Amino acid sequence: MCGIAGYIGARSAQEVVLDGLRRLEYRGYDSAGLVLHKNGKLHLEKYAGRLSVLEGHIHKNGLGAAHLGVGHTRWATHGAPTDKNAHPHMGCGGKFAVVHNGIIENYAKLRGELRSRGHEFYSETDTEVIPHLLEEAYEGDLGAAVAKVAKRLQGAYAIAVVAEDDPHTLVAYRQYSPLIIGLGEGENFLASDIPALLPYTRRTVVLEDGDLAILTTEGVRFFNDGEQVEKKILHVTWDEVAAEKGGFSHFMLKEIHEQPRALRDTISPRIIAGRTNLATEIGLTKEVASSIRRVVVVACGTAYHAGLVGKNLIEQMARLSVEVDIASEFRYREPVLDPEDLVIIISQSGETADTLAALREAKRQKCRVVAITNVVGSSVARESEHVLYTMAGPEIAVASTKAYTTQLAAVTLIAIELGLARGTLSSAKAEQLLSDLLQIPALVEEVLLQSDYIRDVALCLAQSESVFFIGRGLDYSVALEGALKLKEISYIHAEAYAAGELKHGTLALITPNTPVVCLFTQTHLQEKMVSNVEVVRARGAKTFVLSNCHPQVTASLHDMEIRLPAIDPLLAPIVAVVPMQLIAFFAAVARGADVDKPRNLAKSVTVE
Ligand code: G6P
Repeated sequence: MCGIAGYIGARSAQEVVLDGLRRLEYRGYDSAGLVLHKNGKLHLEKYAGRLSVLEGHIHKNGLGAAHLGVGHTRWATHGAPTDKNAHPHMGCGGKFAVVHNGIIENYAKLRGELRSRGHEFYSETDTEVIPHLLEEAYEGDLGAAVAKVAKRLQGAYAIAVVAEDDPHTLVAYRQYSPLIIGLGEGENFLASDIPALLPYTRRTVVLEDGDLAILTTEGVRFFNDGEQVEKKILHVTWDEVAAEKGGFSHFMLKEIHEQPRALRDTISPRIIAGRTNLATEIGLTKEVASSIRRVVVVACGTAYHAGLVGKNLIEQMARLSVEVDIASEFRYREPVLDPEDLVIIISQSGETADTLAALREAKRQKCRVVAITNVVGSSVARESEHVLYTMAGPEIAVASTKAYTTQLAAVTLIAIELGLARGTLSSAKAEQLLSDLLQIPALVEEVLLQSDYIRDVALCLAQSESVFFIGRGLDYSVALEGALKLKEISYIHAEAYAAGELKHGTLALITPNTPVVCLFTQTHLQEKMVSNVEVVRARGAKTFVLSNCHPQVTASLHDMEIRLPAIDPLLAPIVAVVPMQLIAFFAAVARGADVDKPRNLAKSVTVE
């Protein structure tokens, strides 16, 4: 989704802003632009396409050194990705430049009003109302003008503004969309996400809704509702190298390979002397666990798939009924919640607009909320009473990998804790599961060692039009994630099916040579699964088996087989998804797709 980077200080604003935007490229975008304040004038450059297009024009036009600037990468919502619709936007007089993330919901009404007062519009965006409103509101104080304009805007947005009349000030405002200020010495920064700030400063301030920040070279002043406020400085510990490719061809491949480390960091600190410490970390005491009547998991995309695995685990271990909902559906359904419900919110970024709205709804209905997120200081983290952090480190590729497996580890820990506290899981079984969980990073390493063979499997699928993923029980939940990975980065149509459900319609699509990826990690379901695979093979399907069952079980069932290490079926999803991530990666590379920045997708979806 859109990215913002801004700078004021002695360095070249052009370089800092472009560098910041480059570090936000992973969020997904379709056009880019920047404005520099130079020699008393605003200089604007903005183009459809990748950052390299913008950079090419900047070098051709020789913008040169400036010390105040702000840039933007746009993910189109209102108006096609064209040069005109790219940000920054300026009003009729070209005196203000505005970049904006999010959506101004009442823009049509504002546009009508502004037009009737003689303003002329240049783009189709919702954003353009802002510089026009600023033209009317500005009386020599940029901060005051932005505060006044913000009162007229409805929706979720983060904006950064510069004014031609004021070469010493950069103003930012946040309403629901993330914006972070980076504090320096004699210089200050702003960005919509932490990686853009990492090379320059670790001292950050996360703006809250309604916060206005006024950045100068001397410092940053913060206001909320007209009052100056003190903000907490958050020290970012992510290191810059973690947000670089580190010798891998793609961020996604690097992140797949980081999973053993990410899992170790997520799991090990939570297991102390054979027990989890979640009672203290997220308040899951025995009393709390026994007072819970139902669990509701809400998330989007890959995080939703982690929730589906969580449902299966919590139901089995804690004997609690679990509902899993897609956040965009949940929020508008007037969900029936109860204060005795435990609501688990899962979000890698902690900024997904729909997930955040679901969290607020759960709080409004007085439920106990536990958030699983990867980003300290994110909106989900700040608004949740209890947070279980995944320790995946920055995830840059749009397709989520290490965030997913660490989310699985987190839901597994919660399920074990709930089961123990409620007396539905024996201490012996819990101990065995926790000890097995500690072995998972090593098992993932084993799978990664098979990358070459997994690439061969991927190459067999890469030219197919359609691929099916089938499994039963937990394997079905993981199959959904495997299919999503393949779709989002290789653009091959992929569908996951509960293997027993195939015969109720979808089997009609299985024709000779249709690739079907079949999961075999749920020992108690393996015989049923064998029959389901026989059925697709009888229709001529090519079957690619992922199995840790006895080799004889699947010996006559596959065209190719990836062997998975032995593991308790309850923990198998964390290991079984890894070859599917690699299949998607290698298939996408073979098809020449832009793996880290798939078309139309964004890393963090901060609009509805
Ligand atoms: C976007 C990303 C997905 C991600 C989903 C939820 O659609 O492309 O990879 O799973 O958002 O993101 P979250 O940050 O809330 O986990």
